[in-house]
Amino acid sequence: MLVCRSKGLLQRLLSAGPGSTTSSRDYKVAVVGASGAIGQPLSLLLKQNSLVSQLSIHDMRNIKGVEADLSHICTSVQTNAYEDQQLEDCLAGADVVVVPAGLPRKPGMTRDQLFEANAGVALRVACSVSESCPGALLAFVTNPINSIVPIAAELLKAKNSYDPRRLFGITTLDVVRARTFVGDFLNVNPAKVNLPVIGGHAGKTILPIFSQCCPSFQCQLEDIRRLTHRIQEAGTEVVNAKDGAGSATLSMAYAAARFVNSLLRGLSGEPDVMECAYVGYKSPCLPFFATPLMLSAKGIEQNLGLPHLDDFERQSLEQMLPELEQSIQKGIVYAKEKM
Ligand code: LMR
Repeated sequence: MLVCRSKGLLQRLLSAGPGSTTSSRDYKVAVVGASGAIGQPLSLLLKQNSLVSQLSIHDMRNIKGVEADLSHICTSVQTNAYEDQQLEDCLAGADVVVVPAGLPRKPGMTRDQLFEANAGVALRVACSVSESCPGALLAFVTNPINSIVPIAAELLKAKNSYDPRRLFGITTLDVVRARTFVGDFLNVNPAKVNLPVIGGHAGKTILPIFSQCCPSFQCQLEDIRRLTHRIQEAGTEVVNAKDGAGSATLSMAYAAARFVNSLLRGLSGEPDVMECAYVGYKSPCLPFFATPLMLSAKGIEQNLGLPHLDDFERQSLEQMLPELEQSIQKGIVYAKEKM
């Protein structure tokens, strides 16, 4: 008896390590922009994900060194590196493609001011996905998300590869921040806080829905306004604190890894996997919007749509719509011009 128990303990001890569980390890995940400041910690987290069997990393430069480094980590995730012109090879057969590629903001810039620098990333990656892995789930971190996802959608449509259930803008960092700030405010563990964040991923288009917070958030409207503003400007808070050295990288990598893990859990058939993300939306004036989603093997199983909103949230939603609509149109026009 004693021997058996200690054998079990020994087994657990030997198999322990970040992210190691007993689940199947079947999926190929590709990271585009993997040697960047988000790409590296994101790849590190994915190297520890027990649902991943193959991690293919791509960047324009320095990717071999990142792969050599990652490959020494004792998990069974296989790593492969691909340079500049090898994007299609990197993506071949991928189940999930996650894209942190692109330039970050500097203090004083809006996310929209990254449009010129980063829009091409959406075209190039979407084009390669349509050729190498048209059935993959494609998730962007690249800013400005509000325009990047519409660009990718247009390209995929032109290549007959668009399935709105499989294209995502990752807004998980907004939810992560909302949980953290609410947890601090209520003096509860942020891991126990849940609230949807809807809209988009820039300034006032980020809308946390406090009326649906769990545990319930019964506070003065002033507190809600203040926390809403902090969540909307949290990216800028980091950009300013980094003082020219970039934007959020560690928290963004954490959020993106969490989102990819949810996609993989959905793919593996786990029920009730829910995340908010910026996705195709059935509204003619607003064809993209972040809402809570139910994920499955198809990608999005069900878009749960707008949560119930109180008066403040309804007003805030109304105020964000013109900006969001403009960002979407900007992306669509750009893609049509470039194709
Ligand atoms: C963030 O929210 O931190 C990212 O979108 C990066 C940025 O520019 O704010």
